[in-house]
Formats: sequence, C-alpha cells, structure tokens
Amino acid sequence: MLLDLAWSISRPFIFQMDAERAHHWVMARAARASAGELAALRRIRGSAWGGLPLRVAGLKLAGPVGLAAGLDKEGEAIPTWAALGFGFIEVGTVTPRPQAGNPAPRLFRLVKERAIINRMGFNNGGVDAMADRLRRLREAGGWPEVPVGCNIGKNKDTPNEQADQDYVICATRLRGLADYFTVNVSSPNTPGLRALQAPGVLGALLERSCAAAGDTPVFLKLAPDLEPEALAEAVEVAVAAGCAGLVATNTTLTRPGTTGRLEEAGGLSGAPLWPLASERIGQVVDAAAGRVPVIGVGGVSDARQAQALLARGCAAVQIYSSFIFGGPGLPARLGRELTAARLGAASSISMDEGNEPSSR
Ligand SMILES: Cc1cc2nc3c(=O)[nH]c(=O)nc-3n(C[C@H](O)[C@H](O)[C@H](O)COP(=O)(O)O)c2cc1C
Repeated sequence: MLLDLAWSISRPFIFQMDAERAHHWVMARAARASAGELAALRRIRGSAWGGLPLRVAGLKLAGPVGLAAGLDKEGEAIPTWAALGFGFIEVGTVTPRPQAGNPAPRLFRLVKERAIINRMGFNNGGVDAMADRLRRLREAGGWPEVPVGCNIGKNKDTPNEQADQDYVICATRLRGLADYFTVNVSSPNTPGLRALQAPGVLGALLERSCAAAGDTPVFLKLAPDLEPEALAEAVEVAVAAGCAGLVATNTTLTRPGTTGRLEEAGGLSGAPLWPLASERIGQVVDAAAGRVPVIGVGGVSDARQAQALLARGCAAVQIYSSFIFGGPGLPARLGRELTAARLGAASSISMDEGNEPSSR
C-alpha cells in the first residue's frame, strides 16, 4: 500500500522530532490538505469498510473504527481523517475558554512499547474558536460523510462545584455543529477532573449537559482507573441522566507492562493499556447491559483487538496511539480486515445455521 510505503519513509524523520513538535508539524500538514489531495488520499487508501453502515446512538457511522479525542483538539483536519477511512471522528477536548495546558515537555513517545505518555492538560483554543471552525467547514461544504463528535471538558481554573456550567457552555455553543458530544470527566491531567465521575456530582452534570445538547446525543467517557463497582455506578448514573452512550476508556495513571520513562507523569495510552482497558471495557459493556451503546478505546493496535471489542459487545472502537505508530494507512487497513472477519463470521453462521448474516 502506498500510504504504508510513504509512512515507512517519513516515520524515521517524524519520530526524530520532539513528539509535540512532530504532532504540530503533521497536524499543520493534515489541516491544509486540498480537495485534490483529499480525493487522492481516498483513492490510494482503498476501500475502508465493506460492511453495512453502523447505527450507533442514531448516528450513521461509515465504519466501526473512529479517531479518538485528543489528536485533533481544535477540529482542524476533519476532512483528512475522513479521507483516511475513519468511520467517525472525535475532536477536542475543548473547554469554554482557551487555555495553554501544562508546561512542555508534556508528550512522550515510548516507541519500543508502542505507547504514549501525555500530560497535555486540555491545551485548546476555546469553544468559540471550535464553533467558528466547525461552522466554516459546514458552510464550505467540507463536512465529511461520517459523524464528527466534539469532546467537551472544563477549564483548569473552574472549580469543580461549577464544572457543570463549563459543560453546558460547550454543549450550548456547539449544538447544531457537532454530531455528538462526549463529556470528558476522565482525563488525568486536569487536577480534580476525575472526581466528577463520582455519582453524586456526575448525575447533575450529565443531566444539565444532556439538556443543553438538545437532540444531539451525549456520550460519557470513563477512566480505566475506576474500579468495576465505581464504573458500574457511573454507567447507571449516565443511563439515568439520558446519555446516549459510553466511551471507555481514557488513558491510565497506572504503568502496566514494562514501559520505560516511568518517571514521566501523565496518562498512558497505547499497547500497554490494552489488558486493563479491554477488561474495563468489558465491565462497562456488562454494566450497560444493552441499554446504551459502548465505544471501546484503549490500546487497540490491530484488527484482532478491534474485533475482540466488537465481539465483546462494543458498538464501535476508537484509536489514537496505534495511529501514531502505525501511520495513515492504519484506519483503512483495520476497516478492511474487520470487513473480512465479519464476512468470514457471516459465512460460517449461514453455513452452520442457515441464518442470514446479522447486521449490527
Ligand atoms: C496525546 C494524547 C492526548 C489526548 N487528549 C485527550 C483529550 O483531550 N480528551 C480525551 O477525552 N482523551 C484524550 N486522549 C485519550 C484518547 O482519546 C484515548 O482515550 C486513549 O489514548 C486510549 O486510546 P489509545 O490507546 O488508542 O491511544 C489523549 C490521548 C493522547 C495520547
């Protein structure tokens, strides 16, 4: 594949840059892709997902592999992610007011472990800039054929007692622009944020967010560091508050596996997160008990792991870290491999049981 070849040539150059510099360099390039370049990307990536479109919380996903929040915090390169074959896209986290985030260095690649540690701290240009960008994209006819969700958070200096107001501001400002919202109370890099996952505060925060979102579906994103009982409680609160779905999981403060750079503080993602995330995702699926869909995220590196999450009951999956290491050909490749797995499963069902292949 051409994209994989291009990646094998450019990756050593990109990976010799400091991780955050490389991020901005790639983002700038992705953000200024022309219509011709996007068409070329779609052509050379090949088919991404040959199955039926998926319906998740009323959204029509073009495929089951989405881009997780945090890569495109400002919503700058949405058409490029769609052209690479992502079935849905989550931008943000965005906060009401712009904020700089934590001091650099704050983003670390652990190449050997295929992992990332970050303590970015919701650096973003604020919800007004996000709203303007999304509106311009819609007006210019550049909105992709796949759903684009916006992950919303609170400013660092907003006290937790007033946090619900920040989520309401973001949802109100972005209503009619984003296709769905994800309430992020699970990032480890904003002091006190994860305390908002406690049932007492979470219920009111979600109810107010859902009310502000109107008809736009609201997902809740959970941390892998919650114990199963706390996760189950948070799921009950989310369902009762009217959330349309759950996203599990965010990064972990633990250091599973044999990762280097242990001294760096922040959230760990990528391959070493898989054992913990997949266990927690299964617990969230069980707690949701089919009442709302679950999007599984955390350490998914290949089609086998993505398929495992779908088989475990997830409606879709998201990736971030494996995209950094695997490059631009990965989303379409995962889509194709999942299609093949699905067709294989469908033909064995119809051979074994004479059933029509079921559609998810
Ligand atoms: C550098 C970086 C920044 C992130 N920023 C956000 C964020 O702003 N909001 C959020 O909900 N998740 C954020 N995440 C978490 C990812 O969306 C995802 O939940 C996590 O990385 C696990 O998936 P992965 O193992 O495929 O990377 C970030 C992850 C990374 C690596």
